[in-house]
Amino acid sequence: MVGNSLSPAAITTNLETRFIGQRVIYYPSLTSTMEVAKREARQGAAEGTAIIADEQTAGRGRMKRVWLSPKGSIALSVILHPDVAYLSSLVMLASLAVAHSIEAVTGLKAQVKWPNDVLINGKKVCGILIESEMRRNIVDYAIIGIGVNVNLKLSDFPEIQPIATSLSDELGRDVSRLELIRRLLVEIERLYLSLPAGGAIYEEWRDRLVTLGRKVSVTWGRTKYEGIAESVARDGSLLLRHSDGSLTKIVAGDVTLRE
Ligand code: BTN
Repeated sequence: MVGNSLSPAAITTNLETRFIGQRVIYYPSLTSTMEVAKREARQGAAEGTAIIADEQTAGRGRMKRVWLSPKGSIALSVILHPDVAYLSSLVMLASLAVAHSIEAVTGLKAQVKWPNDVLINGKKVCGILIESEMRRNIVDYAIIGIGVNVNLKLSDFPEIQPIATSLSDELGRDVSRLELIRRLLVEIERLYLSLPAGGAIYEEWRDRLVTLGRKVSVTWGRTKYEGIAESVARDGSLLLRHSDGSLTKIVAGDVTLRE
């Protein structure tokens, strides 16, 4: 496999960032990078500290789901201390950072599905989980968790094969995880530093969403909405137009694209 040995030194040497990924905590195997990131953040870890694992045994997905994270994938969590005003932009920032990095390293075209799945040819290649803790109205920490299916044969994982893909399955060759991680850290920092400048991240994220203009159903807990995904608000929520003309603003949920 190409570029598959990860080590803090290999990741950080000459990494062109000021703080994202300048400290890497690496594990060959662990439960979940989110757990370690949370512990580190509570103990005061510097902004930009990255936790990376070759394999997770209890990877966490959105909506309390399990995230499969075997060897060959990327499992990465980054600790941030953003201003509360930027919290809702982290979802957009993370999905754009992944899409840009995949495109730069592989030449594949990446799509973003609301709110923050990254797809290749309509199938999920990356999942993103954002967790944060507030103290009064101040963000104590936020963690961006990114899982990318890099060098996996999806035929080995029949339970997710219908909806998921990997970079190696799409390309027919392995991809350097090291190169992808380094690129991802640079992109996360570039986009994070650009947040105070205004709406560019929101606009690019909105324009990249494969969801908009499509007939969708959105599931949030026990509630299911159907309609046309009309737009997204600046806080990241989805605006869904129903057949009776009414509009629902949806903050979180799972989207299924209809024909
Ligand atoms: C999703 O449900 O789509 C989100 C999946 C997020 C997975 C990543 S892998 C790195 C980090 N550690 C975890 O346990 N989850 C996130």
